[in-house]
Amino acid sequence: MTDNIRRGAEKPGEAERQEGFMQKCAALLDRREAETGHRMTFRVTTFGCQMNAKDSEKLEGILEQCGFVREDDERKADFNLYNTCTVRENASERLYGHLGLMKSLKEKDPRRLVGVCGCMMQEKDEAEKMRSRYPYVDLVFGTHNIYRLAELLYRTLTTGKQVQEIWDGTDSIVEDLPQDRKYSFKAGVNITYGCNNFCSYCIVPYVRGRERSRSPKDIVRECEKLAADGVKEVMLLGQNVNSYGKGLEENITFAQLLREVEQVDGIRRIRFMTPHPKDLSDELIEVMAQSEKICRHLHLPLQSGSTRILQRMNRRYTKESYLALVGRLRAAMPDLALTTDIIVGFPGETEEDFEDTLDVMRTVRYSSAFMFIYSPRTGTPAASYPDQVPENTVHERFDRLLTLEQKIAAEECGKDAGKVMDALVEDMSPKDPGMVTGRLSSNLMVHFPGDAALIGQIVPVRLLRSGGFYYIGEMAGRNGAD
Ligand code: 5AD
Ligand code: SF4
Repeated sequence: MTDNIRRGAEKPGEAERQEGFMQKCAALLDRREAETGHRMTFRVTTFGCQMNAKDSEKLEGILEQCGFVREDDERKADFNLYNTCTVRENASERLYGHLGLMKSLKEKDPRRLVGVCGCMMQEKDEAEKMRSRYPYVDLVFGTHNIYRLAELLYRTLTTGKQVQEIWDGTDSIVEDLPQDRKYSFKAGVNITYGCNNFCSYCIVPYVRGRERSRSPKDIVRECEKLAADGVKEVMLLGQNVNSYGKGLEENITFAQLLREVEQVDGIRRIRFMTPHPKDLSDELIEVMAQSEKICRHLHLPLQSGSTRILQRMNRRYTKESYLALVGRLRAAMPDLALTTDIIVGFPGETEEDFEDTLDVMRTVRYSSAFMFIYSPRTGTPAASYPDQVPENTVHERFDRLLTLEQKIAAEECGKDAGKVMDALVEDMSPKDPGMVTGRLSSNLMVHFPGDAALIGQIVPVRLLRSGGFYYIGEMAGRNGAD
């Protein structure tokens, strides 16, 4: 679904300029359809995180305004755009397989278009590599200028040459452009862009630039517009949401922003990603605890349980301060579900350090965890640390952590069996056509008998039993449902 969200662009006139290019592209595509009898189609393939998924919704919105029609089959789409991730090496490697496929398809049909954008293109040498090794790629751009897609595409369509535009950074936020939201009932809303933390393993600050906050007025207005469109759940997005507000004219904290978003009628649930443990304030805990709308789930990246490793990671908290924070959160919200990110095999990680990570996992009892094998990223400080951990040690540790995580997650998932909880129905169940899949406030999923008419509704569900990392349930009557 496409909605033209109109907000005050921070770069005056830019949105209108881009709209002009969308119209020009649309005229070119009309002409092509008249010539070939075929309307050009597109597919955006997204790698990586929620920020990239959100960017892809914007890219898709622009492409629809440019006159393209969505095609889910990569082999059939006339224009394939890859929104890349570079946070770990395997994320980068996956792109090349897709480009190989595009090369062979383009040899058969040279009118196809291929574009590559996103974090990986912001890396040193990547754009040059596209020029020299992947000349059949038509369009290359980065993370700071996605709003210029129509203009860049117009250049590609009119010159037939590879068009490249990578910016080192940007101060501006241009947003009153189309977006094609994936779900009608839930939506991501950017609140900050970029990151200033420079964790020593992480490439994000280099590819997404310095942190910039959107104005609270713009954020609230977007939420109001989404609510009017039927959205019930918003996810506020930023690399480090806790530092929201820095650099803005208004004096506002993330907790205060949450209070404002809470006032928006029609928004029934609020989530956010990602808070950094180093500056999660007591004010935020209080706002969460008092709120009817903020979900009882917090994704709180740990990365490592060892204070020594955390220091080398430049995370700016200790094992003890992290555990103390979890203690304050749980004291205020005993039903809070916690999830996390953990890196295994960071340079210099000893068996003792790893034991600390296991210890935190046992103490906190996450309902789920994303675990990653450390991947050196060129240009980050940790990539040149001398004491990289041998591969077999890393794999062995990873397996131990995974085993513990699965055991704890399964135990945590069973805890609420027998209770009735609200679920936002997101989809038909992938396995059983008679069942739907809903998301609980805790972020766990529940499968229960129902039909497509329930999708987008918040309904009470009795959790009958745990399926390991999800629940099987049944609808518990319509009282309190919307
Ligand atoms: N190697 C492994 N994992 C990483 N992450 C970020 N950078 C790296 C890296 N170089 C993980 C962190 C982060 C998540 C998004 O990706 O755990 O929280
Ligand atoms: Fe990367 Fe750390 Fe910023 Fe997260 S907070 S994006 S891990 S530098």
